[in-house]
Amino acid sequence: MRTVEVSAPATIANLGPGYDLMGMALDNPKDFLRASLIKSGKDEIGVEGIGGDTISTDPDKNASFVAARAVLRRAGVTGYGLKMQLKKGVPPRMGMGSSGASSAAGAFAANVLLDSPLKEIEVLECAMEGERAACGSAHADNVAPSLLGGITVILRYDPLKVMKLRPLARVEVVEVTPELELAQEKTRLAREVLPNSVMLGTVVSQMSAFALLLMGIMEGDPRMAGEGISGDRIVEPARAKLIPGFSEVKEGALKEGAYGCSISGAGPSVFALVPQGRGMQVGERMVDRFTAASVRSKFSVHRISEEGAKVV
Ligand code: HSE
Repeated sequence: MRTVEVSAPATIANLGPGYDLMGMALDNPKDFLRASLIKSGKDEIGVEGIGGDTISTDPDKNASFVAARAVLRRAGVTGYGLKMQLKKGVPPRMGMGSSGASSAAGAFAANVLLDSPLKEIEVLECAMEGERAACGSAHADNVAPSLLGGITVILRYDPLKVMKLRPLARVEVVEVTPELELAQEKTRLAREVLPNSVMLGTVVSQMSAFALLLMGIMEGDPRMAGEGISGDRIVEPARAKLIPGFSEVKEGALKEGAYGCSISGAGPSVFALVPQGRGMQVGERMVDRFTAASVRSKFSVHRISEEGAKVV
């Protein structure tokens, strides 16, 4: 029997206009996964930690397990069972890439157990299968940064092509989580509210915001990146309706000096990119704005992490 213990970080996907394409890894929280490969053993997964009781322990539905099994299949390994224990640090259904972290951890752990037969991009494709099991869509904007760390951009899905960008320096990321009743299928529902078609003018605005975001990151210019983050004209307006007080919270963040603000992943958390040292003030202002909209919330301040999934 071989055993490995790995961690994979929380992430923020989309970063405003980069729906299903952009994402970044946070320094914390993380999911921790202990995985063993057992000759002729039976498949088994247990889940503990934050929101662990809401996560399926059916090996066909659990994101970590599905991702790990995809690695075994791809590596052509048969005749082994996987025993896993997942400790959730990333809260599920909050918009912090919980299923992405579990999927990245599962795929990464399985590849390490097999002495890394798969390339990084192949491990990522397997992690996407975990995301598909968890929320019905194999998007890679959470699994990519959780696996690779830093800020990632999906340049193409078919065949998959991903680039890791250098994280912005001297910035903090504020994550504000409102206390809202959330459905088990939160991400699926948040995808269903999106429009099927948009006007050409909206596409042009969106491309402009995406260009500001990407070039801002590449140039190391957080102000430009922040303008891009705040400029989503397609996904954010549709999902803002699901988050009471969202526009006031965003306005509060920008007034308090945030470079940019948008919905964190599929929500309901809201994030802001802020100058280093301003996270507490911006977070407090955002919480105040939620309170004014009769929504309780809490905030945390993070760094963008260069580190993705790793053996612990
Ligand atoms: N890109 C995804 C979405 C991230 O916004 O639906 C959440 O999993």
